[in-house]
Parts: sequence; C-alpha cells; structure tokens
Amino acid sequence: MKSILFVCLGNICRSPLAEGVAREFIKNHNLSISVDSCGTGDYHKGENPCPNSIKVSKQHGIDIAQHRARAITKEDFKKFDFIVALDDSNISNLLKMGCPTEKLHKLGFFGYDNQDVPDPYFFDRFEGFEKVFTMIESCVHNIFKEFK
Ligand code: 4NP
Repeated sequence: MKSILFVCLGNICRSPLAEGVAREFIKNHNLSISVDSCGTGDYHKGENPCPNSIKVSKQHGIDIAQHRARAITKEDFKKFDFIVALDDSNISNLLKMGCPTEKLHKLGFFGYDNQDVPDPYFFDRFEGFEKVFTMIESCVHNIFKEFK
C-alpha cells in the first residue's frame, strides 16, 4: 500500500478524522504512505472540518484544523491504491462514479464487523463524535497492521 484515500459524504466530519489518525500513525511509525481524504459530495468544498471533529481529534493530540474539504475526482481512482469508504452509501456512490472494486474497501471491515461509521453531523452532541473517533481510530490502526 503506497497511498490511501478515505471517503465520506461531506469530507468535513468523518473522513478528515480518518486522515488525521492515519497521518499520525504514519508519522509515529516512520512509514512512507501518502494519505488524503475527500467526500463524494461537494457541499462543503473548501471548508474546514466541523468544530466537533476538530475538537475530538485535538483531544487525542491530532490537529486536523487546516484540512479543506474537497470532492472526489476520477483522477483519485487512478492515483490511490487503497480507497476506504466510511459507510455503505459512500460505497454505492463510489461504485456509481466508477471506483475500481479491487481498490475499494469499507473502514468498518477492519475490526468493527463491517459496520457503517455513523455520520455524527446531524447530531449535535459531542458524545457522538467521541464514539465515531474511537471506531475510526481502531479501524485505521487495523488497516496498517494488516497491510504493513
Ligand atoms: P461527513 O458528514 O460525510 O462525515 O463529512 C457530513 C457533513 C455534512 C453533510 C453530509 C455529511 N451535508 O450534507 O451537509
């Protein structure tokens, strides 16, 4: 695995967390893997992550505040070796857009019974973001363990 792309819907809540956790792991383990994240939608193009995602990652020593949301492009399907969706609706959107099936994975497959990572955006409570962070952190670490 040389490059990994995490994909959710808006690229402001879940996939920036996955990217941040992966960047931290890569840094701490001196790996040479490139990582990025994006959304299947462009509703939040150019925006920073949502405040609760910035807050929960900061509590875990990870700074994602500089991230800017972007939507996936067809180039991403060529550029990245490993494309990791956060939920089933992301998977179906990616398949409709032509994502190669052999590159496509679901984050919850890696230690969470293939569950969707729920979208905390529409729930105001911070607790939801803590749960989502725990799930994302565990699955991202498992990806690196499996593919190291
Ligand atoms: P994300 O959450 O996919 O985890 O970034 C979302 C944030 C905003 C919207 C959708 C999902 N939205 O449609 O505004």
